Amino acid sequence: MKVLVTGGCGYIGSHTCVELLENGYEVVVVDNLSNSKKDVVDKIKKITKHDLTFYQGDVCNLTLMDQIFAKEKIDAVIHFAAYKAVGESVTNPLKYYQNNLDSTIVLCEVMSKYNVKKLVFSSSATVYGNPKKLPIKESFALSPTNPYGKTKLMIENILKDLYISDNTWSIAVLRYFNPVGAHESGLIGEDPNGIPNNLMPYIMKVATNELPYLNIFGDDYDTIDGTGVRDYIHVVDLSKGHIKAIEKVLQDTGIDYYNLGTGCGYSVLEIVNTFAKVNNVKINYKIVSRRPGDIACCYADPSYAYEKLKWRATKGIEDMCRDSYSFVMKNKEHGYKNK
Ligand code: NAD
Ligand code: UD1
Repeated sequence: MKVLVTGGCGYIGSHTCVELLENGYEVVVVDNLSNSKKDVVDKIKKITKHDLTFYQGDVCNLTLMDQIFAKEKIDAVIHFAAYKAVGESVTNPLKYYQNNLDSTIVLCEVMSKYNVKKLVFSSSATVYGNPKKLPIKESFALSPTNPYGKTKLMIENILKDLYISDNTWSIAVLRYFNPVGAHESGLIGEDPNGIPNNLMPYIMKVATNELPYLNIFGDDYDTIDGTGVRDYIHVVDLSKGHIKAIEKVLQDTGIDYYNLGTGCGYSVLEIVNTFAKVNNVKINYKIVSRRPGDIACCYADPSYAYEKLKWRATKGIEDMCRDSYSFVMKNKEHGYKNK
């Protein structure tokens, strides 16, 4: 079975390529390297001792995508390629609507043409917006609060209409909660540009003294210790979810939606304290005011993914904190800091 992975050099895509190769799939990656580096391909090969085919290019490029499908006999696609920075999507929404929507439309057009109708799509828990109840089930109302999240919901709707128009499609929409951690080899992990927005990458910069302290955005939420609670999921667990989703779309037709989270919420302080403890480092922090748009608490009900995909997360926050730190320490000298 040959799987095309769009955005396969990125954070989640690279870990998923590892799982695919280790599970006997052939892998073709297309990535324009707008948020990743080509050496990731060699690292994936080094971890798995398997080969893969890499195309450097843009999924929005219809000619290129047509050439890839004409040359490779693709059986299924996992579509990761997208822009994902929430703040930038607010200041530059057209960039997000253009890339995230165009890439999906071009991809689906070419898939249709070559009769490849098995698709796994990277959506996000951000489509739920501010949930009225917890834990979050797939059936909850969807109301994203920023352009990035809106692109994800628009794509979910496009895929639904596509399935309605042609029910030979088989589509799994995966709504990720908060992916963190890295492959245990320390070779691949999250390597954000500039000052990170997300919690774990920021903690890593404090742990390596690249930033002096973490700003904790509010300690007056109605949570266990007043700081925000999220459902952090180890990226390797998340990637294994994609293998189950690929197996599912290869067997069935239909469109379905799955929360990929652990079902456990942890507060910012719990993450900070666990990170410090398992890695034996000090994480300086200051409590500052709430970040606009943040919610107090967000965690998944992952039971549907277990029922339908027989997938559940197995790694805890200790693993997430340990593997994140191990990646950053291993890559510090090799340009983790400056891309
Ligand atoms: P990432 O930025 O690390 O990876 C995305 C990859 O896609 C990058 O390698 C980038 O170069 C590539 N890319 C972007 N646009 C492209 C295009 N037009 N053509 C070819 N390549 C392109 O992001 P990630 O964290 O691995 O996220 C993967 C997917 O999961 C994205 O769709 C993202 O929106 C979604 N997601 C991520 C998170 C998260 O917290 N990381 C949470 C929920 C959903
Ligand atoms: C963010 C995105 C969301 C995306 C998710 C993926 C926003 C508004 N939302 O969600 O769309 O799907 O990442 O991982 O950006 N925190 C601090 N200090 C920091 C950074 C974060 O205290 O420097 C706190 C936040 O207030 C929050 C928690 O840490 O309580 C997690 O924040 P973050 O990692 O940014 O993720 P989300 O806000 O859940």
